[in-house]
Amino acid sequence: MAKDGITLVIATGNQGKVLEIQSLLKNYPVTLKCLNDFGPIPPVIEDGETFDDNAYKKASFTANILGFPALADDSGLVVEALSGAPGVHSARYGGKGLNDEARCRKLLKEMENIENRKAHFQCVVSIAVPGGPALTYEATCEGLISMEMTGQNGFGYDPVFYYPPLKKSFAQMTLEEKNQISHRGKTLHEIQDEFEKILKWIQQQLPVQEKFDCITD
Ligand code: IMP
Repeated sequence: MAKDGITLVIATGNQGKVLEIQSLLKNYPVTLKCLNDFGPIPPVIEDGETFDDNAYKKASFTANILGFPALADDSGLVVEALSGAPGVHSARYGGKGLNDEARCRKLLKEMENIENRKAHFQCVVSIAVPGGPALTYEATCEGLISMEMTGQNGFGYDPVFYYPPLKKSFAQMTLEEKNQISHRGKTLHEIQDEFEKILKWIQQQLPVQEKFDCITD
């Protein structure tokens, strides 16, 4: 399909996410750009109280600064027995300087002797236009915090997130398996299903480009 005038910026520095989103939206009439296609822009402070706040903040900040519609996501792990922690602080749980493995170990320590292992991953995607409103998509994936780390794949909390229907941790799944059921996979598939409508919505929000006839000598 031919690409038309709409440019959408994928507002993330994570190249894995960029590739995933590009591959899902490759057949639509939109030019997808990522932050690397532009000069350095100031980082967004992710200090929202919800995933929604942070996703919207990243999408609208990028749209306003670059002047193009932008798509951003925010996600994390919500553990019932820990009152929702690590939640929006998932990436920095336990403080700076910890890597993914150390964060998983900290979580397992916090969960020692806790019977209620219920948890979910949540993902929110916001699509914003410059100076205007935004669309929000979200999905969750329910699971349990395991007693120990298992599996070698994935990233973040994958080794401690057990998904009962497949009897595997996220880190024991292939990327294809995980994308079918994960919070991010489900959100992106919903966006893919609705993308024609989303493009129409973006078109309606953008200022009308007036055409002038130039008279030359
Ligand atoms: P972000 O939305 O990419 O900034 O993700 C925030 C943090 O949530 C990540 O750094 C991970 O610690 C955690 N996280 C989000 N999605 C996943 C996932 O699919 N698996 C494991 N951890 C995740």
